[in-house]
Formats: sequence, C-alpha cells, structure tokens
Amino acid sequence: MIIHGGAPIEGRIGISGAKNAALPLMIASLLTDQPVRLHNVPRLDDVAMLKRILGNHGSDITVSGRKRADRSDLVGESLTLTCAEVTNHEAPYDFVRKMRASFWVLGPLLAREGQARVSLPGGCVIGTRPIDFFVDALCKMGATCQLENGYVNASVSGRLQGARLRFPRVSVGATHTLLMAACLARGETIIENAAREPEIINLAEALRAMGAKIEGEETGTISVQGVERLDGAEVTVIPDRLEAGTFMIAAAACRGRLEVLGSVPDHLEALISVLRQVGAKVAFDPARPDKPLLVEGSEKIEPIDIETLPYPGFATDLQAQIMALLCLANGVSRLRETIFENRFMHVSELVRLGARIEIDGMLAIVNGPAEFRGAEVMASDIRASAGLVIAALAASGTTTIHRLYHLDRGFERIDAKLAACGARVERERR
Ligand code: EPZ
Repeated sequence: MIIHGGAPIEGRIGISGAKNAALPLMIASLLTDQPVRLHNVPRLDDVAMLKRILGNHGSDITVSGRKRADRSDLVGESLTLTCAEVTNHEAPYDFVRKMRASFWVLGPLLAREGQARVSLPGGCVIGTRPIDFFVDALCKMGATCQLENGYVNASVSGRLQGARLRFPRVSVGATHTLLMAACLARGETIIENAAREPEIINLAEALRAMGAKIEGEETGTISVQGVERLDGAEVTVIPDRLEAGTFMIAAAACRGRLEVLGSVPDHLEALISVLRQVGAKVAFDPARPDKPLLVEGSEKIEPIDIETLPYPGFATDLQAQIMALLCLANGVSRLRETIFENRFMHVSELVRLGARIEIDGMLAIVNGPAEFRGAEVMASDIRASAGLVIAALAASGTTTIHRLYHLDRGFERIDAKLAACGARVERERR
C-alpha cells in the first residue's frame, strides 16, 4: 500500500461487520444440523479461510450479497451455514496455524460429536498465546484431552458435563469456546471471570436464538443450562468497533473530520474518553444510532497514559493505532500493554517514520511530538498494520507498507474507504 500523507481526511465512512464477532458466530453453526443464517458478514480473508475450515468439517455454505471487489458498500454478505453432519473431526495444522480463532472449533465439535482433534495454534508475533484455559475447562467438564504430535485430541463418552469454571484471567477465545460447549452439556455450567466483549454478547444472543439457555453474559459470570439440541437461527453480526476505532483515531491524528456511520458508541466508550482527553472532539446522539458519530481532530494533541485491558477497558486491538496518534502529542505518553507480552512489533516501524519510543518490558514511553516523514515499513499483524496506516496518513511524503495481507485479514476495503474521505492511497491489486 502506498500512502501519500498529509491529505485532509474528511467525509463519511461506513463500518463493516465485526471480524471478531463473525468468526465465532460461524463456528457456532457447528453446534446444530440446522441452517444458521448470518447477516452483515464482512468480506475478509479470515472469513474466507474459516469458510474453508468449516467446509472441511462438513458445512455447506451459501453466500448472498456478493459484491464486486471495488465496491465499498456498508452491507456485508449473508452466509447460510449448514452442518447437517460432521464429516471430519480434525482441524489440521495448516488451517489453525493461519488463523488462531479456528482452534475454537474444539468446543462445538466436542460438545456435538464427543470427539475433536485440533492442531495447536502455536505462538504468533504478538505473544505465545497458550491454550491451557481451554483444556483445563473442558477436562473439568468430563473430557479427556491429550496433547499428541502437535494436536489436542479431545473426547468424552456421552455428553459433556456441566461444571463451575473459572478462568485465571479473562480470555475472549476460551469464553467463546466454553460458552459454545456448555450449551450442549448435561446440566448447568457457570463460567466465572468470563470475557464481556461485545462479540461475546453477540454470540450469546445468537446461541439463545438457537435455543440455548444462557444468562449473565454481560456480567462476567455466565450461567448456561445445557440443552439436548440446538436449532438454526438468523443473526446479524455487530458493527466492527475496532474498525470504527481505527478510523476515529485516524481522524484525530490527521486533524481531520470523519462521520463514522454504523458504529455502536457504547462499544467505544474507553476510546471516546481517551480521544476527548487528547483534545479531539467526539459527538454522537445516543438516542439516534442511525446518525453518524462525529470525530474532529484538534491541532494540539495532548499526551496521555493508557493501559490496555479486557472490555470495557481500552482494547489491546487499538493499542498500535493509539500509539501512532500519541507520537504526535505534545509531550510524553505512557502506553502499557497488559494482554499480550509481545505486542510492540509496530514500534520499530513507527520509528522509521520518525517516532521516538522507548520500550521497557510491556511499557512503551512515547516521546512527542514527532514529525512523521514517509518511509518503507513492514506490517506484522492486523492491528499493527492499521497503526502504520494512521501514521502514514499523518506523515509528510510517501509511505509504502509491505506485507499487506495482514490488513486484508481484518479490514474490509480500508484503502477504498479512506480514499473516499480524501486520503491518497494506492495499492497493488492481487
Ligand atoms: C481475541 O484473541 C481476539 N481474537 C484478539 O484480536 C484480541 O487481541 C484478544 O482476544 C484480546 O482482546 C479474536 O477475537 C478472533 P485471549 P484471543 O484469549 O481470544 C492468555 C485481532 O487482531 N491466555 O483473550 O486469542 C493469552 O495469552 C486479534 O483481531 C492464556 O494464558 O485472546 C493472553 O495473554 C489479535 N491461556 C490473554 O489470555 C489460554 O488458554 C488474553 O487472550 C488462553 C489465553
């Protein structure tokens, strides 16, 4: 992607369906032999990969709402996923290593079929990302889990048994997986210290529409009364708060003005508070969700200290983007990452653009104001790429971002959406 920075960013930008909601919703379709219809599914490489993975387990998937690749409309695809019969209990290495969320098929496969063989996802650039919470919780529910040749072999005779589970720390993936598994278990499961991300709420609502008995998903303690079978359902994927957040931060960094259409301000509370503290104007009408949220950057950006936390705290998935903004602040900001131990890969690339950042373990000390100047940089993960896009938009001169495939995993047509608001962005088409 080639970005000629410094162009005024102004206009209306639409938000796609959330990747991190669409993926677990697609996986939940494995829990039933009936069709699950999902609307507002974003057109992303991760979604395409998961379609292949679910197909490998026996799902038939039909798609409606296909669009030409150069269209950047708001409305996503609708998918109908039907897994009448699970034809394969194995999620192989080649799939799971490419997308960690595919490990989550472990929950529904085990709950429905009594067996699953799923490759270990392994580490990734943002950290080691272990799976101990999943395995410990499923064992508590009566499963036998063995680690063999890089795979988790899990089985249970009869159905999983409801249990009281408590994760040592909040985990989005373990919450999704155990919530799905508990729906078909015998008796009651209580999940304590559960994640409360909006994507968890979207999944819980979908599972309820399928006939599951779930309560408390907004409180951090979820109770599930297992049922014998689940039905199909029709569900809409929530708007992507991380995509919305990325554009909001871009507006602040470029001293631009964006109307963000289709986001849920409630999901963005922590970011809105940060943006207001650094001096940006954020305005929305809580009573009118159909109206856009307005973000207007101010000439002077104030420094701030932030730490990433599970929802409703400041999202680790917005850390790279906010760092790009804080590089431009008038003073020193401290950014503490508490979720992943190695999520500062973008720092060396921001430094290429002119940032002055020191790293001390999981703390980044950002010395502003930097004057970004275009350079060649390399993307290392989805959100790091978004941080580099923001810095490039605010830079003088031309920035080339390499390894763009990370961005395509998680952002739908980001170049077209930004270009429609004045950004000068070009990319090589594949
Ligand atoms: C989800 O990953 C998201 N992925 C990530 O977004 C996001 O960064 C992360 O949650 C935190 O919000 C999807 O939703 C697809 P975790 P997940 O389990 O579920 C530790 C993106 O860019 N842990 O909540 O894998 C873990 O190491 C991606 O869209 C264990 O120790 O993250 C981490 O420190 C990147 N043992 C912490 O918990 C376990 O068994 C939270 O991770 C499981 C997790």
